[in-house]
Amino acid sequence: MRRIAVVPGSFDPVTLGHLDVIERAAGLFDELHVLVVHNPNKSALLPITQRVALLERAIVEGGLPDNIIVSSWSVGLLVDYCTDVGASVLVKGIRSQIDVAYETPMAIVNRNLAGVETIFLLPDPAHAHVSSSLVRQVAALGGDVAPYVPAAVASYLQGAKV
Ligand code: PNS
Repeated sequence: MRRIAVVPGSFDPVTLGHLDVIERAAGLFDELHVLVVHNPNKSALLPITQRVALLERAIVEGGLPDNIIVSSWSVGLLVDYCTDVGASVLVKGIRSQIDVAYETPMAIVNRNLAGVETIFLLPDPAHAHVSSSLVRQVAALGGDVAPYVPAAVASYLQGAKV
């Protein structure tokens, strides 16, 4: 049986921390879906199509494995996507106790809804402080985001002057 997992997130934009988790998750499963999900609790910087395009570029340019599929999802439950693609596992990166508190109820609800388990990966400590919101703030104030994001994202943000 193929082991299929989903890494969901807003990816607004994808960071080096995300890419690290995606790469290690891809090594644990036969097929890994990286799913850009509309999060109604957050106001987005980038349109979903742009987030998908930047993820795809970052995955290719970063030399990540070719068992990764990038998609998006904006209507319905995340576990419905998992069921559609035959995934039984969600993978999330955990940077801190705040992430644990945020992720725990979602993990329990997703298991109750559809039997989808969540596994948590710890990031490389080099990326433990990196978040998309930090990147958005640095970019908005004219700072250099290159240390925190894939090159494709840095050049996009510089070009777009967001
Ligand atoms: O990168 P983010 O914004 O922290 O990602 C959060 C995300 C998109 C993974 C989270 O909002 C989510 O899981 N949304 C799916 C909506 C859903 O299915 N909710 C019900 C069960 S928790």
